[in-house]
Amino acid sequence: MLYSAKVMDHFMNPRNVGIMEDADGVGQVGSARCGDTMKIYLKIQDGIITRATFETFGCGTAIASSSMATVLITGKPLSQALALTNQAVAEALDGLPEQKLHCSVLAEQAVRAAVRDYYDRSHIPYDPADFPVYEEE
Ligand code: FES
Repeated sequence: MLYSAKVMDHFMNPRNVGIMEDADGVGQVGSARCGDTMKIYLKIQDGIITRATFETFGCGTAIASSSMATVLITGKPLSQALALTNQAVAEALDGLPEQKLHCSVLAEQAVRAAVRDYYDRSHIPYDPADFPVYEEE
């Protein structure tokens, strides 16, 4: 299996690792397929993600995907974080092997779950249909 230099970089030197004690939104998802879990923490100010961190217990691609996802959404409005797709994460990593694409799906789901958690905590109304519950994939 061949990984891009970017995947290797974000795996070996992941950005934004760690628990955020004062997070405004936290999203945790897991994959039934492999048992890996990913947690994304968001700090939000005036609708902008000012900080994003992650904790991932999983494969190297899951770590690289969560690292890249936090980089992509930091400084961005919530609408942009919600529009983040796993394809965008995979592209930003210069591509992922077919059988590792599901790892990037976890990143998309964890970001969305964290935004939903923020809406819940802040009593911001939303359409639940826009946020399917990601328990297992
Ligand atoms: Fe499970 Fe990568 S193998 S997230």
